[in-house]
Amino acid sequence: MTDNIEKFLAALSGSLADGTFVKLSLGNYRGVDEHLQKILVRLVNTKKGTRLYFLYRGDTRDTAKNFDFETGVGLVAEALENGFFSGHLFTTANDLQLEIGKKGKSRLNIGKATFKVLPSLDHDREKTYQVDVGSFYLKALGITDDNGRVRDKQQDKWRQINKFVEVLASLVDKSELKEKRSLSIVDMGSGKGYLTFAAYDYFKNIRGVDVSITGVDTKDQLIDLSNEIAKACGFDGLQFAEGTIAGFDVPDVDILIALHACNTATDDAIFKGISSNAQLIVAAPCCHQEIRPQISSPPMFRELLRHGVMLERFAEMLTDGIRSLLLERSGYATKLFEFVSTEHTPKNNMLVGTRMAEPASPSEFQQQLDQLKTEFGITHQRLETLLNAGVQNHATSV
Ligand SMILES: C[S@@+](CC[C@H](N)C(=O)[O-])C[C@H]1O[C@@H](n2cnc3c(N)ncnc32)[C@H](O)[C@@H]1O
Repeated sequence: MTDNIEKFLAALSGSLADGTFVKLSLGNYRGVDEHLQKILVRLVNTKKGTRLYFLYRGDTRDTAKNFDFETGVGLVAEALENGFFSGHLFTTANDLQLEIGKKGKSRLNIGKATFKVLPSLDHDREKTYQVDVGSFYLKALGITDDNGRVRDKQQDKWRQINKFVEVLASLVDKSELKEKRSLSIVDMGSGKGYLTFAAYDYFKNIRGVDVSITGVDTKDQLIDLSNEIAKACGFDGLQFAEGTIAGFDVPDVDILIALHACNTATDDAIFKGISSNAQLIVAAPCCHQEIRPQISSPPMFRELLRHGVMLERFAEMLTDGIRSLLLERSGYATKLFEFVSTEHTPKNNMLVGTRMAEPASPSEFQQQLDQLKTEFGITHQRLETLLNAGVQNHATSV
């Protein structure tokens, strides 16, 4: 081992001992593993204390493991002897860049520190978490190109993926799921699976949670493609199933996701979430076609709603307002907010239900619902129909 490698390893051990370590990466790999490309190392808080989190980046899959400091430093030493020809260590004191030449000659540059403060190791970290642009699944799904850059046409989708993961992380942190070490999730109307993959990658590889996610969609070609990519990524707990939302048997799940599922498919999904006792129901409704033809404007609203565009928007508001009340009636606390700017997509409302330990009185919400429906002449709404039928079925079966 050359002096420079020894100095590099000593700096790594020293930074871990004095608490100045920020992160480390090993690259320029020319070893025997045909898939391995990089090793990225950072600190992570675990139940056993602070550990080194090693992310082994491959061309088609990433794997991650935590190690104590001593083992971690040993593994870095081993990697530098077995195929990695460069190392970059960031500490709050200095940046160290190690380059190993062909005949074992090496160079070590010590420069000014890029990072002056240590990254947070607790869950606040997720608030600033960005999806790793180098992830293989992003390339396989066409979000990034062969150079790992986000394609111009995919910039909006890319923003949406990041925002979705950020919102999901924050919702989980504010719920009873925060400390759960295993999570079961269903994504209804998963489409090409961008968000499903990102959610899996986040829970599995960033939070280190034992996660199982099933994406459901009617399009068999998308299902086959998504399953192939999940397999190629080594995402063992991620699977996609062909079928309708209404027909999919949902076991008890922690989180039910339904993003941009068309029209009343969103109601089918929310109903499945309520029936399967999901702790969190996260829906971004898409087109709203059921309520609009039923609306008969009360005199006070007639002037406002004679414009088609206003009626359209109002129908959306009414639909999502009814859904929110129905979730509340079913024991969920709800919130409705814009999750990405309208500049990037018009389908940007997110309706979130969090199951409450002590549900509020359903009759209060029923009263508000009845009032709204009477006022605007609404005779039926899919989620209400499903829930009421569910209650009746339950009542006749007990
Ligand atoms: C607009 S895409 C959204 C995909 C993904 N959730 C996203 O937000 O990127 C809607 C997807 O929902 C699926 N879908 C619509 N209605 C469905 C239903 N009733 N059952 C299953 N899938 C449905 C469609 O096939 C389509 O792939």
